[in-house]
Amino acid sequence: MHEFHYADGELRCEQVAVASLVRKHGTPLYIYSQKTLSDHYLKLDHALAPLDHLICYAMKSNSNIAVIRALANLGSGFDTVSGGELQRVLAAGGDASKCVFAGVGKTEGEIELALRVGIFSLNAESEPELRRIDKVARRLRMKAPVAVRVNPNVDAHTHAKITTGTYDNKFGIAFEEVEGVYARARKLKNLWLKGVQMHIGSQLTDVAPFESAVRKVTPLVQQLKADHGIQFFSVGGGLGIVYKPALESGQAAWWKKTPGKQILTPQTYADRLLPLLRPLGLKILLEPGRFISGNSGILVTRVEFVKKTGAKNFVSVDAAMNDLIRPAFYDSYHEIVPVRKSGRKKISSDVVGPICESGDFFAKDRPLEKVGEGDLLALLSAGAYGSVMGSNYNTRALPAEVLVHGSKAGLVRKRQEIKAIWGDESIPPWLGSSAS
Ligand code: LLP
Repeated sequence: MHEFHYADGELRCEQVAVASLVRKHGTPLYIYSQKTLSDHYLKLDHALAPLDHLICYAMKSNSNIAVIRALANLGSGFDTVSGGELQRVLAAGGDASKCVFAGVGKTEGEIELALRVGIFSLNAESEPELRRIDKVARRLRMKAPVAVRVNPNVDAHTHAKITTGTYDNKFGIAFEEVEGVYARARKLKNLWLKGVQMHIGSQLTDVAPFESAVRKVTPLVQQLKADHGIQFFSVGGGLGIVYKPALESGQAAWWKKTPGKQILTPQTYADRLLPLLRPLGLKILLEPGRFISGNSGILVTRVEFVKKTGAKNFVSVDAAMNDLIRPAFYDSYHEIVPVRKSGRKKISSDVVGPICESGDFFAKDRPLEKVGEGDLLALLSAGAYGSVMGSNYNTRALPAEVLVHGSKAGLVRKRQEIKAIWGDESIPPWLGSSAS
């Protein structure tokens, strides 16, 4: 269950009124609920309890160091994809020996960093990468813990841009080639063939593709255990969330099964996968990102103008695609609700940002309570792939971020100063000291 709800018509995060955070920190503003983060982590942890397991939170979904610290305090490991992410984990007090490192283009420098800090595993995506890891490990006189990412060629039935487990995608090594790759990698003296990994895609709302992929890959995993003594199997992340979360008490908790529709819950996931995974006798890793962070965050924005042109009612807000790019990039749906309910009638609205692109929108033809200048709106389910995908497009400062814990709220990222946006740029001397 997430911790955003209405009390007396006012949107709250845990015990804190969203409007009071806006008074203090302005808009656009990301607000995260620590309880929601913890609850989601603990639900998965509990569902996997019958297995020797490690949850490696996919920090690409939300890598604020306070979020990392909150999850590290619960014992979480981290799925990282760059040297930068690994350094973030360390800066936040996370444990490198619970981290995996994925990605198709790891540099020698990144591999060296991962090995020096004692990574749990480098998840390799190609044979040249395995050779590169071996080379770096030889230089460091170490044995590098590695897993190969197997591409099971299973359709995840999700958005094309977030499907990763078919042969049209750049990720991993084709299922049929994996045994040969391990046999050849065995000859590389500085590799420790520690595990095997897969990840078929993101925002999967049905357990069936996970089950097909695990069913397909487990015989291979068993073989790799017998031949090379691998110790773990990472089943990746990808658990989808509900992008229309309930905000009223009395509405069904979103993870409960609704009649006729099976929502992907940690329990459904575990019920279907545990019987396949338990007989392997291996440590099982899970790399959930969105499931933990998605409904833990909202983006609050202020209405600047409302205009009617032609058939449309445009609500211009002060957040934009540079703050939350998902609608522009994937046509994603984010629920939009008023921070204070007015009870005014709903009218069909397009909610748009101020950036000079037609793609800069948050909703099209959406029935919304009539709003006016200065009203606050909250975009829900913005905790995953929100702030982390932000940019400075149109020289717009990155928004502030707040973490709420019960009745406490802490600023976990201050609003970027405009001058900082060009702070690393410079004008070469031949252009003169000032414009003439
Ligand atoms: N493990 C690996 C190797 C991944 O590539 C990913 C996500 C995850 C785990 C975590 O997936 P999750 O549990 O969050 O679905 N920006 C897109 C999502 C990109 C996902 C990339 N990889 C979006 O906003 O929907």
